[in-house]
Amino acid sequence: MSAQQPLSTHGEAGLERGAVDLQRYQHSLMGTFGVPMRVLKRGEGSYVWDADGNRYLDLLGGIAVNALGHGHPAWVEAIATQAATLSHTSNFFATEPQIALAEKLLDLAQAPTGSRVFFANSGTEANEAAIKMARKTGKSTIIALEGGFHGRSTGALALTHKEAYRAPFAPLIGDVVFVPVNDEQALADAVAAHADDLSAIVLEPIQGEAGVIPLTHAYLTKARELTRRHDALLVFDEVQTGVARTGAWFAHQLHGIQPDVMTLAKGLGGGFPIGAVIAFGERCGTMLGKGEHGTTFGGNPLAAAAALATLRVIEDEDLIANVKAVSAHLRERLEAMAGVLEVRGEGLLLGIGLAAPASAEIAQAAVAAGFIVNPPSPDTLRLVPALTLTTAEADTFLTWIEGHLAAHPLTSGDQ
Ligand SMILES: Cc1ncc(COP(=O)(O)O)c(C=O)c1O
Repeated sequence: MSAQQPLSTHGEAGLERGAVDLQRYQHSLMGTFGVPMRVLKRGEGSYVWDADGNRYLDLLGGIAVNALGHGHPAWVEAIATQAATLSHTSNFFATEPQIALAEKLLDLAQAPTGSRVFFANSGTEANEAAIKMARKTGKSTIIALEGGFHGRSTGALALTHKEAYRAPFAPLIGDVVFVPVNDEQALADAVAAHADDLSAIVLEPIQGEAGVIPLTHAYLTKARELTRRHDALLVFDEVQTGVARTGAWFAHQLHGIQPDVMTLAKGLGGGFPIGAVIAFGERCGTMLGKGEHGTTFGGNPLAAAAALATLRVIEDEDLIANVKAVSAHLRERLEAMAGVLEVRGEGLLLGIGLAAPASAEIAQAAVAAGFIVNPPSPDTLRLVPALTLTTAEADTFLTWIEGHLAAHPLTSGDQ
């Protein structure tokens, strides 16, 4: 089936093959993700197809990962060529793609001389390295934000706020203090209370998992000021916001506020697993010395080639301009819809704030109609599609959701 063919029906009758596969899934995989919505078979551009041949417009992009959409020819070619040349070496050896990728990231981040990169395999692992850097300041208290999400390993989980994720695994590393978002006074008070022991403030410039909650310029400025004053690290977790997602290479560039440490993953590999820690300046760049951190796979040539191809396509196809244009179009049409209170976020990290806690039902109706969207909180739908999404593709979803909201009006009493 080609991308040009019309949508097939998404009715229950069409799910037979997928239903069998889902039973096999439940018998063979741990239940950590619950029961998946569909079994997906293949993707092309902004579309994916399930096991029964139904097509979906993918507005989730593997949760902000498939930056170039599915199967971009330049990305496929780069991975295939690198796989045939040299796929993995161990970090006892250096490779050209790894060096080129580090240089490229430092360049895009406008990092000063002395800045350095560490490659990992995921956002969680990048954050683990950042936690170690915080510890290397010789101090231990980390301030993190309510609603913040930084990963599920026990270190990254200690910085993740959601109690349901944390409670079964307590005790986690201590010395983490949570403060409310965008409350500068609360941040200043927490810093004052831990002035002698503050190692880092860790935050997402736009909280993704919390429901697309942007931090204000004033708050980020305050965090920068306080960390400088107390010789602590300002760590920006740009795992979700980084790599052109917000219409800038990195979200902090929208604010002109450079952190000491930035963590990346998700969109960086365009669908190939890779994470990175960017350490700004000589002090941070040399904080983790020989033997103080490591990884078998991190930054292997295959992952680095995938990331280099992703960054190259973003530049060659001027995807930052596309992100801004499609974002403005989505925002304008969504904001005019009944039932939509606000649209939060930047670029193609958008949260549709609904007038009622109906996001899960709408996401279910959407998938039945051929659109993949995600409900990170009860009253928010999140859109994190490929950066290659076109206005025409976005319009098909906009038309659907407009019709859906008209047929199922939201009132604040809805559940
Ligand atoms: C801001 C942020 N940090 C860290 C992570 C964890 O990244 P990963 O799932 O690649 O380990 C995520 C994942 O959603 C994230 O959104």
